[in-house]
Amino acid sequence: MSLKPRIEAAIAGAIRQGQAGFPPPKLASALDYAVNPGGARIRPTICLSVAMACGDRQPAMADAAASAIELIHCASLVHDDMPCFDNADTRRGKPSVHRAYGEPLALLAGDSLIIMAFEVLARAAEADPRRGLQLMRILGETSGMPGGICAGQGWESETEINLSAYHRAKTGALFVAATRMGAAAAGQDPEAWTELGARIGEAFQVADDLRDALYDEVTLGKPAHQDEIHGRPNAVSELGVRGAIRRLEDILSGAIASIPSCPGEAGLAALVRKTAERLTPVLPANQMV
Ligand code: IPE
Ligand code: IPE
Ligand code: MG
Ligand code: MG
Repeated sequence: MSLKPRIEAAIAGAIRQGQAGFPPPKLASALDYAVNPGGARIRPTICLSVAMACGDRQPAMADAAASAIELIHCASLVHDDMPCFDNADTRRGKPSVHRAYGEPLALLAGDSLIIMAFEVLARAAEADPRRGLQLMRILGETSGMPGGICAGQGWESETEINLSAYHRAKTGALFVAATRMGAAAAGQDPEAWTELGARIGEAFQVADDLRDALYDEVTLGKPAHQDEIHGRPNAVSELGVRGAIRRLEDILSGAIASIPSCPGEAGLAALVRKTAERLTPVLPANQMV
């Protein structure tokens, strides 16, 4: 069953709340622009898949978790594209938010989406405060300091960067949020699900580094070759293209092995395999092994 309608409905509900009443029209429009149309929605898909594998006993809680994660992700992209970070003109095949709306509204749209994510969880917490608090705590840990997205972006301002700490915080953390929050939303102990999220996140970052090195802006829908241009540490410069692809394959097989035993174990393994196929770049002829 496709999870897309469920994910889109949950996100649309959150955005509607943020546009209710008499909001400043441009900022209200920028919220929608930052989130729709979405990209792959990979994090909420993983979150809901884990919740379903764990029995999905509180679907509204799982929907809140999935949409909150995607709102944080979209906010991180809005801020990441701004001139003070990557100064990117395009995102998801259209002008980035600061290009379309200007810098002040991009900053505010990102801020509003972050706050909205926690409001979504706060609303869900009315039905089950303990669980809602648990979800807010996980999302806070994986978005902020010292180990979340803020920390990951913060590493880019250091002269010495530890590649794995940087990737773990910048990208891995939100995948850990996806598996942990999916399990927690279904009433399971999130601890057992941390490793799966970390491994998917690591694989995702290696794949993103490969795509950045190998593809062009039209294919990516965002500027290409950014790691090289900004002199950022990345898997391709460290391991070479073939080495990075081997690393990606190793991480993904480890990810499948780390799925905790649960009723939906086989379905989750299939999802990881499908994600792996989508992530692994098709090499141009001159890069073939
Ligand atoms: C891009 O994430 C940013 C990274 C963490 C590398 P995605 O590739 O998941 O972006 P969308 O949401 O599909 O556009
Ligand atoms: C952006 O990271 C993802 C965040 C965690 C903010 P990158 O700058 O590496 O990704 P792209 O290439 O802009 O999507
Ligand atoms: Mg960046
Ligand atoms: Mg960027």
